[in-house]
Amino acid sequence: MTPDLMAQGAERYQKAQAKAAQPSESGGRAASYARLHQAGELDVAHGRILYMEDVHVSFDGFKAINGLSLDIAPGELRCIIGPNGAGKTTMMDIITGKTRPDAGRVFFGSTIDLLRHNEPGIAQLGIGRKFQKPTVFEHLSVYENLELALKTNKGVAASMRFRPNGAQRDRLAEVLHTIQLPTAVNTLAGLLSHGQKQWLEIGMLLMQEPKLLLLDEPVAGMTDHETERTAELFLSLKGKHSLMVVEHDMSFIRRISDIVTVLCDGSVLAQGTLDQVQANERVIEVYLGR
Ligand SMILES: Nc1ncnc2c1ncn2[C@@H]1O[C@H](COP(=O)(O)OP(=O)(O)OP(=O)(O)O)[C@@H](O)[C@H]1O
Ligand SMILES: [Mg+2]
Repeated sequence: MTPDLMAQGAERYQKAQAKAAQPSESGGRAASYARLHQAGELDVAHGRILYMEDVHVSFDGFKAINGLSLDIAPGELRCIIGPNGAGKTTMMDIITGKTRPDAGRVFFGSTIDLLRHNEPGIAQLGIGRKFQKPTVFEHLSVYENLELALKTNKGVAASMRFRPNGAQRDRLAEVLHTIQLPTAVNTLAGLLSHGQKQWLEIGMLLMQEPKLLLLDEPVAGMTDHETERTAELFLSLKGKHSLMVVEHDMSFIRRISDIVTVLCDGSVLAQGTLDQVQANERVIEVYLGR
């Protein structure tokens, strides 16, 4: 989500509200509001970029996701915590189309039904996902990895001919700066530290300008210094993108979080500031008190 898009959405919403507030005999104005957004266009006017309602998934009778409801605001950085097996990764699998739920609703904005889209389609809509293990191309340089991220979804022949245009080169330079690797531009990705590889992979996602970024245990295996720089990176992305971050590292969560959602047994156990959820008796019992 770019601030531009958010501003446009808010402006459209305000105009529609002003129209709806005017008296109308025909009801035509209220009806026109429903036509403001075209199918497939991201509509965040209702203040939600992601909306999940009563989602269920079973694996061989085991309820991995069990009545999960959750929503995320545009530009929000939401932290998700919870015990092993709570369903955190499975939730991301559902949002990205890797796993199909047995029941429930999953919407991107208020009009895009994600359950009608497949995994590549969902990535194209603007949902980027970072798995725990870095998956950069080790034999290519940092620059080449970022350049490659621009080529995905193009055919082989088109990829061979591909050269970034001016705007894309600007974007590349901006992303290099964001992920704090400008001096490593020609370094082979295989020579980077674990933390740097993770940042490069996040950079590759950013090249696609995702509106929503899902990050599963991004600081696992990082040094304290790398963890702190990752916190700075995520805080800098907040507002420009919406982020959903799953982590077990509580000091990292404390550093970056506004609202924390606690998942347990496939549904939301508690939600609030980190202080609020850490004081919750049930959360202490199932997770923090171990
Ligand atoms: N494809 C699958 N087939 C069968 N069971 C699965 C599958 N995916 C997940 N599960 C089960 O669903 C439950 C939830 O798993 P999930 O990986 O979502 O938990 P998690 O909250 O991400 O845990 P962790 O903190 O350990 O990463 C687990 O019991 C897991 O074994
Ligand atoms: Mg997991």
